[in-house]
Amino acid sequence: MAKSADDSTDFGFDTVPLRAKQGRVDEVFHSVARRYDLMNDLMSAGLHRAWKAELVRQLNPPRTRPFRHLDVAGGTGDVAFRVLDAGGPRTKATVLDINGAMLGVGRERAGRRYEGRIEFVQANAEALPFPAKPFDGYTIAFGIRNVPRIDAALAEAHRVLRPGGHFLCLEFSSVDVPGLDALYNAYSFNVIPRLGQLVAGDAESYRYLVESIRRFPKPAAFARMIEAAGFQRVAHRPLSGGVVAIHSGWKT
Ligand SMILES: C[S@@+](CC[C@H](N)C(=O)[O-])C[C@H]1O[C@@H](n2cnc3c(N)ncnc32)[C@H](O)[C@@H]1O
Repeated sequence: MAKSADDSTDFGFDTVPLRAKQGRVDEVFHSVARRYDLMNDLMSAGLHRAWKAELVRQLNPPRTRPFRHLDVAGGTGDVAFRVLDAGGPRTKATVLDINGAMLGVGRERAGRRYEGRIEFVQANAEALPFPAKPFDGYTIAFGIRNVPRIDAALAEAHRVLRPGGHFLCLEFSSVDVPGLDALYNAYSFNVIPRLGQLVAGDAESYRYLVESIRRFPKPAAFARMIEAAGFQRVAHRPLSGGVVAIHSGWKT
């Protein structure tokens, strides 16, 4: 069902009007942009690299054929760079993010390394500024949780993929390994905000991060949302005991 502007939604553990969430999310990523990559390494002990490598392995961009890829909520470009490194010279990537500060760091990181193969677009995942069907692949890593209208973002993902196109989403998930869940909770709620304060001077943003993970739909429910957007052969696979999961689907 379409949500009206008066609906409310979650912002971490808070409830906010739907129309207010994006502004709050933008403040978070504006605040952490400069320290974002360093914090990712510190918080996950480098594990986010292995998770992103697995995402790109599943995408499997071709080495010889042309491949047009869209990485949504692409932030500082991490996933797009990996797609370009894995694909051939005719692989091209668009990094799309709503936040200019995150894209600015991404542009700096890319330098001239991928000239002619990468573009950075500031836009909303809920209303992609592309015609229907130009893309062969769509990824969104640690992004969908931040989008206020997830169903709108999924519908847009489906619209911009060509038939045969591959949708992949890497997102925090639910840890259900006995023992690991308690450890993970203690780490998330105690260590991460303190680390955020120490490294990025911002505990609040990292508290939001932890809370938003807990509020995200369970993997089976999220898989149903992907199906509702029109994707086929929808599947999900937990990694690292369910700390994260890769969700996938195909446009037919
Ligand atoms: C946790 S970061 C993930 C960045 C990158 N994908 C990675 O894995 O390192 C989440 C990103 O989602 C972006 N974002 C939030 N809401 C968005 C929206 N509605 N449309 C596009 N990007 C959005 C934020 O600006 C931020 O860069």
